[in-house]
Amino acid sequence: MIAGVADQPLVVGIGGTVGSVSSTERALCIALTAAAQAGYRTRMFGGADMARLPLYDPRAAARTDQEREFVDAVRQASAVIIASPGYHGSISGVVKNALDLLEETAGDARPYLADMPVGLISTAYGWQATGSTIAALRSIVHALRGWPTPFAAAINTQVTKFDDEGGASDPAVVEQLRLIGRQVARFAPLTARSSELATSG
Ligand SMILES: Cc1cc2nc3c(=O)[nH]c(=O)nc-3n(C[C@H](O)[C@H](O)[C@H](O)COP(=O)(O)O)c2cc1C
Repeated sequence: MIAGVADQPLVVGIGGTVGSVSSTERALCIALTAAAQAGYRTRMFGGADMARLPLYDPRAAARTDQEREFVDAVRQASAVIIASPGYHGSISGVVKNALDLLEETAGDARPYLADMPVGLISTAYGWQATGSTIAALRSIVHALRGWPTPFAAAINTQVTKFDDEGGASDPAVVEQLRLIGRQVARFAPLTARSSELATSG
């Protein structure tokens, strides 16, 4: 679902977990809400959306509707926020599979995540994997030519619990997530990517 007015620039959120009420997805929602309050449209690709993406086949002759929708949203984005649970010390396979699909933009005038601020969030059941997952995300964003924002949120879900109302047990964590939304909003070009493409082509 896209929230916001059509001509507002777009922030795309990518993150979550397959098949569960996800703390990662809830954390991402808090950051996206802050970006929306700064004047951006937001589009969330959560665990259920990412689960509908097939395993990325670089040689596939055709793409599914879900693959096209994901790639098109990132093409139109002015900024991205990525949130991953720490799985065995790194990002989850489902998040990585979605990011691998951005290979489809390799031949674009703006490939991958080039020229975009990218906010990063990790959750894990302990501190160690929160840090290693953020480090992995930063490496991936650099490889995709994006600009990781200065602050990244590393959330220990053993300590912090998220609720159904868009909050969390630790107000400092909520504020960290909101800061990510504000940082991508501050550095994203404040023009809608789609109208920019329309006039430059
Ligand atoms: C397959 C798998 C691997 C995990 N590996 C780690 C890990 O290495 N370190 C850690 O602290 N937590 C690990 N966890 C716990 C998750 O990172 C943690 O519960 C996270 O907050 C889950 O996010 P979610 O609520 O969005 O599913 C793992 C969980 C799963 C399912």
